Amino acid sequence: MRSENGVEFLQWALPRLGFRWSGFRKPRGQVLKRIRKRMEELGLAGGYDQYRDYLNENPQEWEHLDRLCYVSISKFLRDRKLWDFIRDELLCELMRADRPGQVAIWSVGCCNGEEPYGIAIMADQLSPNSAEAGNVSILATERNRELLERARRGRYPGGALRELSEQELKTYFRKTEDPEAQYEITGRLRRYIEFEERDIRVSMPARRFDLVFCRNLVFTYFEHKEQTAFLRKLQPRIKPGGCLVIGSNEELPDARRLEQITGTHPVYRTTG
Ligand SMILES: C[S@@+](CC[C@H](N)C(=O)[O-])C[C@H]1O[C@@H](n2cnc3c(N)ncnc32)[C@H](O)[C@@H]1O
Repeated sequence: MRSENGVEFLQWALPRLGFRWSGFRKPRGQVLKRIRKRMEELGLAGGYDQYRDYLNENPQEWEHLDRLCYVSISKFLRDRKLWDFIRDELLCELMRADRPGQVAIWSVGCCNGEEPYGIAIMADQLSPNSAEAGNVSILATERNRELLERARRGRYPGGALRELSEQELKTYFRKTEDPEAQYEITGRLRRYIEFEERDIRVSMPARRFDLVFCRNLVFTYFEHKEQTAFLRKLQPRIKPGGCLVIGSNEELPDARRLEQITGTHPVYRTTG
């Protein structure tokens, strides 16, 4: 099965699902691998063209294909300077002792949990005692049930934790006997996080947030129209003066009522 056929197939199928090809160009291998497995399950030996015919004849298959079109790449504390900024400028301000109420944070598309646990590490460094920890709550949502289960388990191979300092490893992880995932998150970080299955195209959390992390998802993989629709639904979910963090290679489709707060990092504050 020639790989350019796979590219052609994705260029045809992705926009029909509201995704844009450019986001999938680099990591297409993992999506195509899932699609080939699906074709095998269906007994389609005729390649992508045959799968295309199958989709045309069986419209319910689009739902299945939609579930295969995701990219599960994430890293702990990738881009350390951004994380230092999040801790020292954003969380520090939000967690000020004289500020009333809980600090509500949302990690949209949390993958294996690297992002919400990373946020929890930053918050814990500011307020390690357990009474203060109760003041920060992180909602981590993910559409893929398997990834969500992995995030809940919180087990990682050593290689995934390369960006962490020795001290961070010692404080927030314990060693396991599992040769494939030698480190496990401790309860100290778990207490900050609530995991929830949610497809953000279908529904949004009811509460409002001080800080939303929507990185390497909507603004990379969704079509422009879907990005705008999502942003419209997201804005009322951010508290006045709250912030949105997007991926470092991403741009907002329409930054009305959102102001980038530093030229260095993709962090936007709501205005008006
Ligand atoms: C590339 S990962 C990014 C993970 C993390 N935000 C980061 O930047 O490291 C994208 C994640 O978004 C999830 N995702 C994709 N579409 C989604 C949707 N409609 N609703 C919720 N999560 C979704 C994928 O399953 C995947 O785990």
